[in-house]
Amino acid sequence: MAGIMRRLEKFQTVLEQLPGPVYRGTVTACSGQTLRVRGLERKLSAGDRCDILAQDGRRIASEVIGFDGASSLLMPFEAAEGIALGARVETQGTGASVKPHPGWIGRVVNGLGEPVDGKGPLPQGEIARRLRGVPPSPYSRRRLGQKLETGVRALNVFAPLCRGQRIGVFSGSGVGKSTLLSMLARGGGADVAVIGLIGERGREVQEFLQETLGAEGLKRAVMVVSTSDESPHMRRQATYLTLTVAEAFRDLGLQVVCLVDSITRFAMAQREIGLTAGEPPASKGYPPSVFSEMARLLERAGPGTERQGDITGIFTVLAEGDDHNDPIADAARSILDGHIVLERAIAERGRFPAIDILKSVSRALPACHTPEEEAICREARRYLAAFEEMRELIQLGAYKAGADPFVDRAIELEPALEAFLAQKADCRASLEESFAELGKLLGHAGAAGLPEEEAAAELVPPHEPALTHELPPELLADLRAMEEDGGIVIEEPIMKEARP
Ligand SMILES: Nc1ncnc2c1ncn2[C@@H]1O[C@H](COP(=O)(O)OP(=O)(O)O)[C@@H](O)[C@H]1O
Ligand SMILES: [Mg+2]
Repeated sequence: MAGIMRRLEKFQTVLEQLPGPVYRGTVTACSGQTLRVRGLERKLSAGDRCDILAQDGRRIASEVIGFDGASSLLMPFEAAEGIALGARVETQGTGASVKPHPGWIGRVVNGLGEPVDGKGPLPQGEIARRLRGVPPSPYSRRRLGQKLETGVRALNVFAPLCRGQRIGVFSGSGVGKSTLLSMLARGGGADVAVIGLIGERGREVQEFLQETLGAEGLKRAVMVVSTSDESPHMRRQATYLTLTVAEAFRDLGLQVVCLVDSITRFAMAQREIGLTAGEPPASKGYPPSVFSEMARLLERAGPGTERQGDITGIFTVLAEGDDHNDPIADAARSILDGHIVLERAIAERGRFPAIDILKSVSRALPACHTPEEEAICREARRYLAAFEEMRELIQLGAYKAGADPFVDRAIELEPALEAFLAQKADCRASLEESFAELGKLLGHAGAAGLPEEEAAAELVPPHEPALTHELPPELLADLRAMEEDGGIVIEEPIMKEARP
């Protein structure tokens, strides 16, 4: 029975992939980035993909954004140059879709899912996936999973991430968001990272690829890139695609981290699209659709259902002029399950990652820590808070040693705590190491009267295996074959055998 069902499903997928009829229309007007098209009435619906044939023979991809009388309104993904009055428009009357495949790991694609790394064509998966995927129903989703290895000491202890959690990284420009993101991508807690670089300048993309993330980091990641000079439509599309690729891997049963840098640029793209389509500006010039689109997008990350992996989402939020309360930052904070705040003052002191521990919150806490871990975390936080409160007085020399024993201890511990929080971008720290190190620094081992190593072992629960779910055997076979072809290199966690 199961065999027949599987064959039927396969047949259905094949049927769905067959090309449908092509409908044709013509361009009747073009103003700014909006095109009017006649002749496709009743064939198109909002969100459908069309190709416009330019004078020079290029096919310019575009999307239906609305209707006006008998005209369909289209927005091209590229500049409208080369599109003439009367230009032919072709469509199959379907929404945009892509067919992600594990062979995309290690590759860089644009917002349309086309390779841009010059490494040849991309393998295509069997299933066409819509760019605006629908998240699993909240009732069928698992709860947050076990703690994820982030690779970053400060986060492991003070703002831990669980499988399926969605967090924001907030800061002004140049404080270290992208660098922290690359550390998380290489953190090792997930099977694959899907990284969307949205609205960065071309130079920054190159820098991120070659230095920040590096070739090593790319081996277990798919990058989706849309630079600031591309149309708002393309930037938005690239953000959708990032989530779509993450969903495809999640449905294969993999643990995915999905990183978007930045969600603010996505919101700005949506603002441009919304205003062009005639929406009224509401909050600080942002039309309402910005907030609804953002909520829809962020909801696509999160835990999967019983048979799926999880998408752990990490989204950077650019706080313009270091204003952490602009409408986008506010909206993001209310939707996400935690936020990491990077502070310019800390970066200026030269401590990277410049995470402000006292302002960063993970909603997975305190449940995800063991009582011992929680105790270490709370104690260190109290010392950091005490020092921060007295920082100015201490620096002015206005604090007299001995006035408050707790502050004295905080001052004594401060250099060590700062050193603990600082981490080179290419260093990786496990959860276990992070707690052991911090516990030792706080003198826990000595206080318990145990030899240091034993005490450290007591503080930390036994290390759990990174991967507990089963990978479908066909996927494993596929991945193996690709590795043998030399197309990709698969790191250990992905290759873990499915349990018998
Ligand atoms: N972990 C780190 N170690 C050392 N320097 C860092 C680290 N993180 C960031 N930096 C410095 O901060 C600069 C800006 O970082 P970047 O990640 O590009 O910031 P943003 O994405 O917020 O604009 C980098 O060029 C680098 O000099
Ligand atoms: Mg950046």
